[in-house]
Amino acid sequence: MEELKSIQWFPGHMTKTKRKIESQLKLIDAVAILLDARVPYSSCNPDLRSIINNKPRMVVLNKCDMADPAETQRWLQYFQQNRISAIALDCKSGKGFHAFVPTVKNVLSEKIQAWQAKGMTGRTIKVMVVGIPNVGKSSFINRLSRQNRAKVEDRPGVTRGNQWFTVGKGFDLLDTPGVLWPKFDDKSVGEKLAYIGSVKDDVLDTEHLAGRLLEFLRDRYPSPLCDRYKLSQEEIRTLQGYEILELVGKKRGMLIAGGEINTERAAITVLDEFRSAVMGKMTLDKVEECGDVRI
Ligand code: G4P
Repeated sequence: MEELKSIQWFPGHMTKTKRKIESQLKLIDAVAILLDARVPYSSCNPDLRSIINNKPRMVVLNKCDMADPAETQRWLQYFQQNRISAIALDCKSGKGFHAFVPTVKNVLSEKIQAWQAKGMTGRTIKVMVVGIPNVGKSSFINRLSRQNRAKVEDRPGVTRGNQWFTVGKGFDLLDTPGVLWPKFDDKSVGEKLAYIGSVKDDVLDTEHLAGRLLEFLRDRYPSPLCDRYKLSQEEIRTLQGYEILELVGKKRGMLIAGGEINTERAAITVLDEFRSAVMGKMTLDKVEECGDVRI
């Protein structure tokens, strides 16, 4: 996508975050890697594996309330097959949270046994939560700590200070030190992150983005898309994204003076409705289409 070329993920920022994370590694026992259940591959920074080195780790597929449940199950199987502990949850309803602490304890079972053997029974487990902006780190920590101390920002990429949160007796969480920028050398990764809103809209052409999304959904989720905007699969089969966008605007009566279709308004509507899952629970990354999630 042309517009995405203008977004550079400053290598300097990534180096800073890498150093910050590395400097905190000695303070923690395990890493919880938050991924967006709609894009488990695209929301995973491929450098993470080398940054967290050999620390025990687990995957948290967040926002599963908005993801296609069948695809989430496939991703959980994928991680299981690759011997990576993974759970799916959502911060809106709290579904799946019960599995978090037991999974961390399971990941650390050998360590915990070693502590017990040394008589360190009251040792606090310390977990670092990492993930790209907007994946739900603050919401996740808030829900676990129930103290509302982790500020939830509404813009991706907001830097926060280093913070610890107690989530229960003998269990502490550390919020990602620095901003773990996503990495999208791969064009489709950049597009998907833009669709879900993890890339700032103001640097993107909204109508172009919505058009691309409509083409993607036409091929991936034609029924929910057509149901939502009263389109027929036949009529959109051979259309370009922008033409589908025009149809959406027309069906919704989004007109401007002179009877022209307000495609900008239609684009905002399409993106909003996709991002809030009112269009349906959809997953953009399929296990069989993606490369390995390198964690
Ligand atoms: P971050 O710290 O990783 O940057 O993410 P943050 O928690 O700020 O969450 C980013 C957005 O994602 C927030 O929405 C948050 O409410 C939403 N979110 C987080 N987890 C979930 C989830 O499991 N399901 C759903 N549906 N949404 C989730 P926002 O629109 O930016 O803010 P707000 O509307 O909640 O105020």
